[in-house]
Amino acid sequence: MQTEILKIDQNSIEKAVSLLLNSSVVAIPTETVYGLGAVGTDSVAVKKIFEVKGRPSDNPLIAHVHKNYDLNKLAEIKHDYVYKLIEKFMPGPLTLVLDSKGVVCKEAVCGGSTIAIRMPKHDGCQQLLAKIDMPIVAPSANVSKHTSPVKAIHVFNDLNGKIPLILDGGKSQGGIESTVLDVTEKVPRILRAGLITKEMITSVCGACEIAEHKEGDRVKSPGVKYRHYRPKCDAVLFENDQTLEVIEHYEKALKEGKRPYIMCQSQFEQIFNDKNLLLLGDTPEEIASNLYDKLLEGEKVADVIIAVAMPNENGVFAGVMNRLRKSCG
Ligand code: TXA
Ligand code: MG
Repeated sequence: MQTEILKIDQNSIEKAVSLLLNSSVVAIPTETVYGLGAVGTDSVAVKKIFEVKGRPSDNPLIAHVHKNYDLNKLAEIKHDYVYKLIEKFMPGPLTLVLDSKGVVCKEAVCGGSTIAIRMPKHDGCQQLLAKIDMPIVAPSANVSKHTSPVKAIHVFNDLNGKIPLILDGGKSQGGIESTVLDVTEKVPRILRAGLITKEMITSVCGACEIAEHKEGDRVKSPGVKYRHYRPKCDAVLFENDQTLEVIEHYEKALKEGKRPYIMCQSQFEQIFNDKNLLLLGDTPEEIASNLYDKLLEGEKVADVIIAVAMPNENGVFAGVMNRLRKSCG
């Protein structure tokens, strides 16, 4: 199959809609990462998503809807705080897990009783969703376990020949996946950290828990149990205060004839000045935005990426560190 990349506009959106209505999967831009979309009520199309990605069949998908879509069509909203969250953060990088009304096919939710729903903020994506006016289920548009794509070319590198169309909406500004929030209980619970932080949710709801996953637990968000976001080269993670160890590791790799790259906040540039660097920027938002882009740039040039952890895990850094740990395992 020939994979086409088209800039997102009225014509390419029409083409995407007609492919989607014919049970094809299409890669779409969002403000977090690129998604691999299919019509959520079409089980033939949804099965293709799992095949194309090599995704485990017990890991449910997020349904994406336009900003005027009534979530009550898809799910039961039991708690008033959910409306506050919708008002404040949607459209945006927040996914709500709610009790499903069974509209989206069972393949998409992996037979579960809940459904994850999100309204992306990306303009082109909103236009596509408004045009089709149906839930589009979409995981990140990468081969399972690989780093998530934030540019059309990243999707192409993973899925060339496997899908007909990639809509190019530029670089995903958010850079890491949405916050997945379980809102089925009295207190909201973060299942996957992201750009909508615990602090932001608490400010709206008064409280917010973080799901802890212990060995042997029944996992509420299946995706979090898998190894994830791995670049194709080796990757190791050092703590923020281990700059000496980072340099030692770098020198050792050089002696072994390998090409090491250090991935770190830009403020470390002085300390590692003569070395190969993948600089992430300074603010938490900038760092999140650059994380996957730099991992995917790094895998092309490096044998090993030596990553430096963030100084803390507050706010957006919670999501960044969650991705760094999994990608640099
Ligand atoms: O930003 C994002 O969320 C991106 C863009 C494309 O929207 N999508 C994304 O999808 O990251 P994916 O499939 O790579 O990750 C979805 C996460 C997984 O951890 C999955 O287990 C969880 O959401 N999830 C989906 N449905 C769920 C449900 N009903 N209950 C609990 N967790 C769910
Ligand atoms: Mg993913």
